[in-house]
Amino acid sequence: MSDLRSFLKSVQDETVTISEPLSREFEIAAALKKFDGEKIVVIEKEKETGTRVVGGVSGTRDRILKGLETNINDLYSSIIRATNSPVKCKVGDGPVKEFVKKGRLSDIPVLTHFKGDPGPYITSGIVYIKDAGGEHENVSFHRLLVLDDKRMSIRIVPRHLYRMTQRAKEKGLRSLDVSISLGLHPAVMIAGSLTAPFGTSEFNVVNNFLGGELTLTECEHVDALAPADAELVLEGKLRLDETATEGPFVDLSGTFDVKRQQPVVELVGVMHREDYIYQALLPSGSEHRLMMGLPKEPRIWEYVGAIVPHVRGVNMTLGGMGWLHCVVSFEKFREGDPKNVLMATFAAHPSLKHAVVVDSDIDPYNMEQVEWAIATRFKGDEDLLLVPNVRVSSLDPAGDQEKELGCKVGIDATKPMFKDQEGFRRAEIPTDDRLEKLLRKYY
Ligand SMILES: Cc1cc2nc3c(=O)[nH]c(=O)nc-3n(C[C@H](O)[C@H](O)[C@H](O)COP(=O)(O)O)c2cc1C
Repeated sequence: MSDLRSFLKSVQDETVTISEPLSREFEIAAALKKFDGEKIVVIEKEKETGTRVVGGVSGTRDRILKGLETNINDLYSSIIRATNSPVKCKVGDGPVKEFVKKGRLSDIPVLTHFKGDPGPYITSGIVYIKDAGGEHENVSFHRLLVLDDKRMSIRIVPRHLYRMTQRAKEKGLRSLDVSISLGLHPAVMIAGSLTAPFGTSEFNVVNNFLGGELTLTECEHVDALAPADAELVLEGKLRLDETATEGPFVDLSGTFDVKRQQPVVELVGVMHREDYIYQALLPSGSEHRLMMGLPKEPRIWEYVGAIVPHVRGVNMTLGGMGWLHCVVSFEKFREGDPKNVLMATFAAHPSLKHAVVVDSDIDPYNMEQVEWAIATRFKGDEDLLLVPNVRVSSLDPAGDQEKELGCKVGIDATKPMFKDQEGFRRAEIPTDDRLEKLLRKYY
């Protein structure tokens, strides 16, 4: 099964359910913030509509791995394999068609998250688009600011969806049909943040993970596909001749992004399950950061793996907002390896600002160990790589956000090979199974 409901059943012990009605304005966001990075939050009733709302579904790395039915050691090779061998999804009907109507945005409990937000924002929506001949498809996450009952402004960073809009404009088209899907299994959700070659549907990529079981359905009001077992699908016309103000939006950094003129999406239809669950995603929360950063890790793993024999792991860290900081743990064979690894890491993810490389005895997902490696193995005058005046992320408030220029810093926190290795060894306390078992009882 590849729907949100089946996944929620499998993680009940990681879920907190709030039975008191909460408001879509700030109250639900506050509940999501309270349990961010730990629990899935189910709000049984949104105050105005009585709709069930769920957030934080993919808020931990372990839950994403569970959703993808893989483990951390196989994750990167599986994502690369799936990206190289997409499997075409079946097309049929599904529960998302239990209700088909014209719809109004005010009937949907779209959340206002932060003081200073310009209005309610849809943040967990995955946009599907195909061109007229159906030759090129794309799936990607896009935030949508609700402007009124029928219009939203959509943030489109120049990537594949942007390229499709440019091509359509060149052909003289005035709009493109899109579906915006919410309420998805984590494995389907991740389609929105994977990058497959231009024209490839990322739904087909995740279908590889799902053993060919992902079924899409034809929308009723637009020429677009959407997961047949989504909770809610908004059917829209992405206007190529109309823009509106988008922002300021609280992005990954937890600070406000700038306001921009962005295209308008006009709502022309809604499909949903009878008792649909509205899926929320807290901007700048763990889920946002993980869903952005984790899909970038396989490429870093691949680039670094091309220059050293073994990469233990790659962590686009939560503290680095899943986007600006990365830790790579690898097996060092030559004294000069770490700086090459740093350069490969920066090349694989151009938005990166700071990278730390550590030896393979350091767990890259354990930030206390990483900091310990910096404290005990790094010497600032020899082990620092500085790259000034280089492209960084527009999301870095310290950089030049217009020109996307900044400085990259690489930290080599690996042991110098020419020094006695004994001095870098972490002391251990001997233990055995009996003692471990005994101590676990008290833990
Ligand atoms: C929760 C979330 C929200 C996102 N919001 C946006 C957005 O508003 N605009 C955008 O262009 N990309 C956004 N992204 C990033 C893209 O969806 C992501 O980079 C995707 O891989 C781009 O697809 P493409 O490579 O097929 O172009 C978001 C990602 C996540 C995880």
